[in-house]
Amino acid sequence: MTTQTPSTQDVQKSPHVTADDYARLYAASVNDPDTFWAEHGQRIDWIKPFTKVKNTSFTPGNIDIRWFEDGALNVSANCIDRHLAERGNQTAIIWEPDDPTKEDAQHITYADLHRSVSKMANVLKDLGVARGDRVIIYLPMIPEAAYAMLACTRIGAIHSIVFAGFSPDALGARINGCDAKVVITADYAPRGGRETPLKSNTDTALLHCKEGLKCLVVKRTGGQTTWTDRDYDCNALMAEASDDCPPQEMNAEDPLFILYTSGSTGQPKGVVHTTGGYLVYAAMTHEIVFDYHEGDVFWCTADVGWVTGHSYIVYGPLANGATTIMFEGVPTFPDAGRFWEVCAKHKVNQFYTAPTAIRALMGAGKEWVEKHDLSDLRVLGSVGEPINPEAWNWYNEVVGKGNCPIVDTFWQTETGGHMLTPLPGATKLKPGAAQQPFFGVHPVVLEPTSGEVVEGNGVEGVLCIADSWPGQMRTVWGDHERFEKTYFGDYKGYYFSGDGCRRDEDGDYWITGRVDDVINVSGHRMGTAEVESALVAHAKVAESAVVGYPHDVKGQGIYAYVTLMNGEEPSDALRKELEVWVRTEIGPIAKPDLIQWAPGLPKTRSGKIMRRILRKIAEDDFGALGDTSTLADPSVVDDLIANRMNRA
Ligand code: WT7
Repeated sequence: MTTQTPSTQDVQKSPHVTADDYARLYAASVNDPDTFWAEHGQRIDWIKPFTKVKNTSFTPGNIDIRWFEDGALNVSANCIDRHLAERGNQTAIIWEPDDPTKEDAQHITYADLHRSVSKMANVLKDLGVARGDRVIIYLPMIPEAAYAMLACTRIGAIHSIVFAGFSPDALGARINGCDAKVVITADYAPRGGRETPLKSNTDTALLHCKEGLKCLVVKRTGGQTTWTDRDYDCNALMAEASDDCPPQEMNAEDPLFILYTSGSTGQPKGVVHTTGGYLVYAAMTHEIVFDYHEGDVFWCTADVGWVTGHSYIVYGPLANGATTIMFEGVPTFPDAGRFWEVCAKHKVNQFYTAPTAIRALMGAGKEWVEKHDLSDLRVLGSVGEPINPEAWNWYNEVVGKGNCPIVDTFWQTETGGHMLTPLPGATKLKPGAAQQPFFGVHPVVLEPTSGEVVEGNGVEGVLCIADSWPGQMRTVWGDHERFEKTYFGDYKGYYFSGDGCRRDEDGDYWITGRVDDVINVSGHRMGTAEVESALVAHAKVAESAVVGYPHDVKGQGIYAYVTLMNGEEPSDALRKELEVWVRTEIGPIAKPDLIQWAPGLPKTRSGKIMRRILRKIAEDDFGALGDTSTLADPSVVDDLIANRMNRA
């Protein structure tokens, strides 16, 4: 499998880290984290230098994580101001619009960025936003999204980005969840040739939010919107605002942002990242994992609504003084060559995307790739879910021409940056494996039921992390107990990732997927409980159970079993109605791919739904259902099998 995979000699620039460096530095990073991170803490500029490095506890009842705790800094000054003298006229952000036939790309220099961010920071101040206040950002992938993030950091406000694909309900829950003062949105969000009415979604969301919230509206398309007393015209206010806004001195452990993510139960959690450790970790992983060099053009195709966009479109690249691409569109619009056209146009050196996009483009055919000059590409990245060898090989051969190492980066919203990943030039690659821990990351494999550490190679279990790293989340917003319970409750003394993994004979890690009730749809995390509660909120639905099943392009699809209220009849029209319902409750990414009408769900005598059985039926693998003798009514299983929706 590993023939034709690029190794050290294929890396076209001398890599930051060689195989020997990796072994030596990794050992140093876990044996003496204080010394290692004291040195790497110097990657960023401190207003007040830290004297303490690591002060962390994974002890049950006292989960407390602090890095560089007596240092002070400002993130926007690190991402902008400190570059001005040397690279004020260098492009910081290349913005690529959704429709290249209608608009041109924009090049925003570090000096431009400084001006716009300072102006927006002053606008936020004028709206009454102060240090520690929360600001919701609900924007398309436009430069203003980066300005808004950096403007918040400039004045010490805490941003929480809500992906523009989320519904008004989901937006409202997040506004209320962090008690935001201001929402920054736009009139419309163009994507793939269609437009989402963000302002009108925000108006709907705000119906269920407290009085006094202000809404700052960016003009994107100029399309019509309604306007009320709480709305402020961002473009007009920025035109008037001063471009002088001194950066606020922040403590290393002050919250930088909140990002809501799905868990296995109930409402999404507000993951909190703080200022110092997060920035050090984002900057360092961006440089080392992508082997970023001065002058490189870096493209991460994610949306800033996800953590990938936070760390690898905005904070990591800008902290390193890179040129980063912000892409408003989708991989297949106007055609399936869009990614490669953008790579060629801007001479992209590092390209970072998700396996689901690669699979979709692979289906469109290699002629779309071959039309474009990709000779500037040096490193390719993958993130979000395990990459299947077929997609890996296509990425390697058709896109990378066998010349670009692929970094399969495993990490999570909670981890702030990469956790397991090959390093270009240092790692002999294996398609489908995330392979090695990044510096300072101490992975352990535990036996799932006993929680015993599984030593040695050629083993499998759940993936935990034995000690803290600077990019780690610090708490769940407003609910430290939930933080402790979710991540440290099952396996005492360890951070639990929620993923299963295998450590092969060589000691390389392979992620085998979530072991909790979280599914991974196109690289996006979806709690099955969230989809279920959306479904049962519909008047005609009595009960529902949602599981994942293998999907060719999305990785996993959403399979919903639905029991209707007495007297309701199943129909295609009702199926459609439920699909639309879930879209409006959560957003398009939560729409069930398959809905099966279930007269009953398999339950134990104590009433617990046996998801193991539902997963098997959804996988079309009902030959091996295992023991069903504990079911209250075993006959429901026969009906579910007979009417299963996924027939391979
Ligand atoms: C979950 C985290 C931060 C990355 C974007 C998703 C899965 C992520 C990989 C990978 C196998 C992966 C895991 C993880 N995942 N990257 N390279 N190989 N699985 O962030 O929404 O917080 O989801 O994505 O299951 O727990 P997220």
